[in-house]
Amino acid sequence: MHSFVYRANVLLTFALTILALMCAIASFSDNFNFPSPSAEIQIVKFNGFQKKPPGNDEVSLTMNITADLQSLFTWNTKQLFIFVAAEYETPQNSLNQVSLWDAIIPAKEHAKFWIQTKNKYRFVDQGSNLRGKEFNLTLHWHVMPKTGKMFADKLVLSGFRLPEEHRRG
Ligand SMILES: *[C@@H]1O[C@H](CO)[C@@H](O)[C@H](O)[C@H]1NC(C)=O
Ligand SMILES: *[C@@H]1O[C@H](CO)[C@@H](O)[C@H](O)[C@H]1NC(C)=O
Repeated sequence: MHSFVYRANVLLTFALTILALMCAIASFSDNFNFPSPSAEIQIVKFNGFQKKPPGNDEVSLTMNITADLQSLFTWNTKQLFIFVAAEYETPQNSLNQVSLWDAIIPAKEHAKFWIQTKNKYRFVDQGSNLRGKEFNLTLHWHVMPKTGKMFADKLVLSGFRLPEEHRRG
């Protein structure tokens, strides 16, 4: 009889220790999850490149966006907000950032994808600086957690260039 109580006690202690350990590992792993997201963006084509009144350059393009953001998901991730932006320099601004496309990723299963899409938002310069302009495409993400702080980061894809001449789509 003694030995039954003793064993039950040992078992309970063991179970509680395991539970405490699991909780510790869970929050530890969320803080020390080093994600390794990857992305690639191809410009399939420039559909149009025009000077719109009062003289602002506007580009329309089709992109193929390939990404694997699954490593950003942990047990504590609610969803991701992602957007692709074109970033370039002009004499007026060292950084111009134009958002071209965005999406919400609700679950890890959807975080590895490719999509061919036109720019969802207008790519317009505040002037006529875009002919032959080199630019970067950046994939930004905001990780929205179930509890705790949101965090954001990005990947920079460089080496893109706009056409030298205006043309119709
Ligand atoms: C887009 O990229 C993906 C992955 O690299 C590729 O499998 C797919 O064929 C591409 N789609 C187009 C239309 O180029
Ligand atoms: C584009 O990316 C390159 C390499 O990451 C960086 O050196 C450059 O400053 C970026 N250009 C802009 C306008 O952000």
